[in-house]
Amino acid sequence: MDAYLGVDAGTTAIKVLVVDTAGEVIGEGDAPLTMSVPHPGWSEQNPADWWDGVVAAVRQAMDGLSDAVNIRAIGLSGQMHSLVALDSQDRVIRPAILWNDTRTSDQCREIERRLGRDGLRDLVGNPALEGFTAPKLLWMRDHEPEYYSRIATVLLPKDYVRLKFTGVKAMDPSDAAGTLMFDIAEVRWSSEALAKMEIPEAWLPEIVPSHKVSGTLSGEASAALGLLAGIPVAGGAADNAAAAIGSAVTSPGTAMVSIGTGGTVVAPIPNAAVDPGLRLHTFNHAEPDRWYLMGVVLAAGSALAWWRDQAGSGQSFDELIAGAAETAPGADGLTFLPYLTGNRTPHANASARGAFVGLHAGHTGAHMTRAVIEGVTFSLYDSYQLVLDQTPAPTELIGTSGGMRSVFWQQMVADVFEVPLTPVKSSGSPYGAAILAACAAGRFDRPSEVAPEWVTRGKTVNPDPSHADAYSEAYGRFDELYHHLGNFFS
Ligand code: XUL
Repeated sequence: MDAYLGVDAGTTAIKVLVVDTAGEVIGEGDAPLTMSVPHPGWSEQNPADWWDGVVAAVRQAMDGLSDAVNIRAIGLSGQMHSLVALDSQDRVIRPAILWNDTRTSDQCREIERRLGRDGLRDLVGNPALEGFTAPKLLWMRDHEPEYYSRIATVLLPKDYVRLKFTGVKAMDPSDAAGTLMFDIAEVRWSSEALAKMEIPEAWLPEIVPSHKVSGTLSGEASAALGLLAGIPVAGGAADNAAAAIGSAVTSPGTAMVSIGTGGTVVAPIPNAAVDPGLRLHTFNHAEPDRWYLMGVVLAAGSALAWWRDQAGSGQSFDELIAGAAETAPGADGLTFLPYLTGNRTPHANASARGAFVGLHAGHTGAHMTRAVIEGVTFSLYDSYQLVLDQTPAPTELIGTSGGMRSVFWQQMVADVFEVPLTPVKSSGSPYGAAILAACAAGRFDRPSEVAPEWVTRGKTVNPDPSHADAYSEAYGRFDELYHHLGNFFS
């Protein structure tokens, strides 16, 4: 029996799915990851931990499957932007600096000076943000010159896993787009932007389409994973692009809301149109000749995880959410800003911080949980409104990942965005990675041609008009609050 393997190198876990030719998940593996915070605002992981996690999760996913299961191809997805710097022997030089690390504000200002706003818009199509890859390289140049001088190759997390799988150094356009070194319109490295930042182009790997073969499983990897050598490995995709593929969000007119560690609003577009204000990101999709607009909430699921860990008295997410559901929309006047690790969209302020405002003696922990969930949802809505400035309103929203499995949270997004929301049952990025594997194996020509039975939908949740006034009032408070607290956050 043929099957495809999807491998996602996320921030909190490595996730692996085995998917059969009917799109059914027949095996699952999961290896948790931790993030180290050596200084406030920093966030790092050791690439060796990704590899150990991949080995464990692949073995777990394959465990118990019959010997007749024949893995035809492997697809990869992973956290975006996170810098993996290798020396000339392909050794990791320092721990990876992650997408949610905010140490690079000075380097972002330098990139703005070197490229200018027009250069950012025309050459790389995106703003200089702390999370992106190029500022991290310049930070190494400034703070770790000895390490910087040893760099021979720059990869992103899933591409490091590919190197371990195949020995091939490659990146796909959807991940390259988030490096600030890629010409998103021409789908190639931007020699001009690289020259302006004085970053050697020779450090960057070849670009391989997400749905095509990038290499094959080496003998060494096959021994570690217990899989056959020679299995093709697809180009793969950035986790957000892969989640969109795994949710069948490939065409203009649809949009995806995803709530994992971070949260995103993703809207496919037919060309590399860039937000003139550079507030949204424009990245290449994993579907060929497609792009998407995206706004990012840096602390989404992680804001709720923080709240649970600090004040949840050992409650599970389900228990916390059940408590919040007992309270009314608007959390009785309580507002939460979820900027625990800064803000990406719409304020692009790495120094922004979280806040509870409006507490009174009648508030309970359940109100506070509700305020956290509302704050994350309002922050996603900020991104959605920017998307509406650029594209016609989508007729439906697709919900995927952690938070979007909660019916309570689905209803809140439908209510606040005033658009019906349909959750997909498949699990986001690793499922998208498996679809890309199926493409590389020749099962589908392109990701958008995935058979309809692969991406199964849950029940559509319609906006509840009786919640509209309370959410509109609460969003008004949320929107004003950041501006009032502005001086606090500089
Ligand atoms: C996207 C971003 C995050 C990571 C999470 O720009 O920074 O969504 O991709 O893994």
